[in-house]
Amino acid sequence: MITLRQVGVEQQGRRILANVDFEIERGEFAFLLGPTGAGKSTVLQLILFERRPTSGVVMVGDFNSETIRDRDIPALRRSVSMVFQNHRLLQDRTVYENVAFAMEVTGTPRSVVRRRTHALLADVELMHRRSVRPGALSGGEQQQLAIARALANDPFVLLADEPTANLDPETTDLVMRILANVQARGTTVLAATHNEALVSRRRQRVLRLEDGRIACGASREGKNGPDADSGNLRLSG
Ligand SMILES: Nc1ncnc2c1ncn2[C@@H]1O[C@H](COP(=O)(O)OP(=O)(O)OP(=O)(O)O)[C@@H](O)[C@H]1O
Ligand SMILES: [Mg+2]
Repeated sequence: MITLRQVGVEQQGRRILANVDFEIERGEFAFLLGPTGAGKSTVLQLILFERRPTSGVVMVGDFNSETIRDRDIPALRRSVSMVFQNHRLLQDRTVYENVAFAMEVTGTPRSVVRRRTHALLADVELMHRRSVRPGALSGGEQQQLAIARALANDPFVLLADEPTANLDPETTDLVMRILANVQARGTTVLAATHNEALVSRRRQRVLRLEDGRIACGASREGKNGPDADSGNLRLSG
């Protein structure tokens, strides 16, 4: 579903990513783990084709960074959706409208928009807040809303950038449960985090990014594979 092959990214002569090589299969849930500045957001932006590699190739479903055209981008964005680090919510619209708007712009019929918006808000436990604006939400609730909105057009791939940053343990568990449910319904999930404790407690595959390179977890066997096992040892050590 997602393949990065020998991907390098340079910005103003500075190397941000080098030789990044991994594959994530359809329906898989993986964490992208690394400290601040490691390049996690950059990897997610590549998969969203918000940014193109300087070298190597990025493939997501049928989309390929070497052949994609500008007119393919809208279709791509319906298939691959991102929960941004700063949420990018529409502050002058309600919780309901934030989710509904994402469907309206893709021409979804009104009756479908209404039914689906309610279902998504129920999934992220936010129905009772549907009439307020994002400014009235807690950080956790904003995260829940951002996830619901990202799922509006039923993407194949959900990318989440630091989905549990600044959340208390209880809300962190809620957000992780929501993401696990997204995967359970067949969506491929890739979540970037700097939180080692978060990933060490869970069974999902971990791709470890250090200084623009994949340090471990790139093998396709997932967290049970030999490559990922060494990652586990390091995590608990
Ligand atoms: N547009 C840009 N121009 C110049 N440098 C950039 C640009 N985007 C990212 N960088 C640099 O690339 C490196 C990786 O950034 P990136 O945002 O991908 O890291 P990150 O792992 O997501 O960090 P964080 O945990 O803080 O979100 C950083 O050193 C950053 O300063
Ligand atoms: Mg980041």
